[in-house]
Amino acid sequence: RDETYAVSVPGASSFPCSQGDTLLRAALRAGVPAAYECNSGGCGTCKFVVEDGEVAVLQEEPAGLTARDRRKGKQLACQTVPLGDLTAQLLLNPQWPSGHARPRRFSGEVTAVRPLTHDLVEITIVTDRPADFLPGQFAMVGLDGVAGGPAHTERAYSMSNLANPEGIWQFQVKRVPDGAVSGRVTGLTRGAVVHLDGPYGNAHLQDTDRDIVCVAGGSGLAPMVSVARGLAVRPDASRRRLDFFYGGRACRDRCAQEFVAEISGALSQVRFVEVLSAADEDDWDGPRGYVHEALAAAGPAELADRDIYIAGPPPMTDAVVRMLVLEWRIPVEQIHYDRFF
Ligand code: FES
Repeated sequence: RDETYAVSVPGASSFPCSQGDTLLRAALRAGVPAAYECNSGGCGTCKFVVEDGEVAVLQEEPAGLTARDRRKGKQLACQTVPLGDLTAQLLLNPQWPSGHARPRRFSGEVTAVRPLTHDLVEITIVTDRPADFLPGQFAMVGLDGVAGGPAHTERAYSMSNLANPEGIWQFQVKRVPDGAVSGRVTGLTRGAVVHLDGPYGNAHLQDTDRDIVCVAGGSGLAPMVSVARGLAVRPDASRRRLDFFYGGRACRDRCAQEFVAEISGALSQVRFVEVLSAADEDDWDGPRGYVHEALAAAGPAELADRDIYIAGPPPMTDAVVRMLVLEWRIPVEQIHYDRFF
């Protein structure tokens, strides 16, 4: 029978942790505002120190921990599984956003699989509970293991749709060369059962009256589509402006335009800028280069007073954030992204 352990955080309340759950997920399920971004061991935001108790780790050398961190006894809450009652110096987020649904685990059934490009598919999963999340958040999509492999594998994928009472979750999944999990997820067919754990993520649509900019690169399209859709259903949508920048590699990666076109009628003004880094000259007469270059070309004059949402590969996210903070001097509270590695 599964046990439940008690986790104490000095200076904060204690919370229960089900056997096998990670420290981070148990905290978030209990409404404890633990600091985190990726929930996957990559960003290092959830570093903490065990004060008392025994733990197991999911990854021996996660990217989010440096050798120095390990020497100082630091661990990652998202990769740590308590083996009994625990006292932990967990880092809390003082600006914990309100309105987050607490993450929960449930199963769902694949009801549709739609190819979007040569290597990107949209997967629709229906659960028997309402799909409760904020635009831009993500969930852990899990599959039962195959013979000879781990019992359970999962990856973080952002939802591209909006919360709904029917329990519909849509994801855009890219087939990664040699990606064991993405290969299995993109190969799912109707009727397959998957496990969901979520929602997670802090880079969601904010409740402000600023117009917004979405900057998406590659597989970062899904959360930006969700954020744009979220803006389009706001009561004041007809007074709101959206600038949507999308960067892909080649013409065969193009699919963003259909999503932006779908919502453009609901907003006062929409600008869609698509830039390709390796397009064949015969096929593409639009701008070439990277999405941060397209954003730089647009310049801060019109965009500096916006909320800016960013999702995509880490080098692209880093380049955009560096420019916004160091060159455009945009206040950090207007910049929203979750770091993945
Ligand atoms: Fe734990 Fe990113 S490393 S949240």
